[in-house]
Amino acid sequence: MFARSRHLAVPWLVYVVFVILGGAYVRATGSGAGCGDSWPLCDAMLTGAAPARATWIEVLHRLFSGLAWVGALAWVVVTLRAARKSGVAKASGAVLRARRYALWAFALMSLEALIGAGLVLLELVATNISFARAYWMAAHLLNTFILLWMNVALVLALRASPDDPREALPCARAIWARRALVPTALLLLTGVSGAVAALGDTLLFANTGSTLQAQDVVLGQLIALRIWHPVTALLASAAVTIWALRRLDAAPGLALALVSLVACNIAVGVANVWLRAPLTLQLVHLALADATWILFCITAMRTYSAASAPEAASEARSALDRTRLSAGQVAGA
Ligand code: HEM
Repeated sequence: MFARSRHLAVPWLVYVVFVILGGAYVRATGSGAGCGDSWPLCDAMLTGAAPARATWIEVLHRLFSGLAWVGALAWVVVTLRAARKSGVAKASGAVLRARRYALWAFALMSLEALIGAGLVLLELVATNISFARAYWMAAHLLNTFILLWMNVALVLALRASPDDPREALPCARAIWARRALVPTALLLLTGVSGAVAALGDTLLFANTGSTLQAQDVVLGQLIALRIWHPVTALLASAAVTIWALRRLDAAPGLALALVSLVACNIAVGVANVWLRAPLTLQLVHLALADATWILFCITAMRTYSAASAPEAASEARSALDRTRLSAGQVAGA
């Protein structure tokens, strides 16, 4: 069904991760105020003066994230057209799922853009020290992970065969299945605590001069909060490792890759603390965290039978309803 566009599915996911890393680069280089408090246009580009480095970084991030929003919209169009072409009653389970996940991915991408806009418009960027900023950063990271989850589901649905029976289709809700619940919750918590730790590091190392000497109470508390990240990360790593090892029979390659990624991320996390979070290592750590989450979602969706997930049950019910409806129409005609 998605003969041509399915080849773009994996590059699309890679591009989304690239844009996420771009956001971390903006934060880590303190470039979030590169356009002042203007959004979506960048007033600093319109003054006629040569733009500063921070302005270029912020503008490029807006450009790449704008393209990501257009890309998410394009998937909605592609999947809606595919469903319409095959007729709602006849559309395969893979097409219907791809359409649903594309709509969710687009909604989440729009929310991601709005959170980014909120950070800029409320001036929660550069050297801003406040708990409000920490909450926004945590929400941004949480939305990023949920956005990645939906895009993974979309990619798997696009690559599924239209002839696949419903039970064989990847189902997004697999990560909320009873046995995956603990690693899912701990990974999300680790991401959120990581975002707060990253903010603490950024502020600490950007304010080693006058601001830190001012003994800012909020800054002190944000820096102290960083301790929760290694704690949640180690709990999440243990939970994911145990969960993955139990999936060795069903998907040995995925399970081993997931365990290796978790181990790499712990090593890079420790190096981050040791070396005081240099920029490159921050980006490597975030890339590994995204990869861990993506692989976790893929493993869950591949190893849980869709039949055991609530989504499959509700889809089966609506398929039955559609069949009854068309049977009724035929009888009535
Ligand atoms: C499965 C394991 C882990 C995951 C999924 C994870 C995830 C994350 C995430 C998502 C961030 C935010 C990055 C950003 O917004 O730029 C982060 C930051 C951070 N993490 Fe982890 N982490 C893990 C393990 C660890 C461990 C074990 C340590 C230390 C012992 C650690 C130390 C740090 C530090 C210092 C930061 C802030 C600096 C930065 O931006 O990279 N992490 N982590």
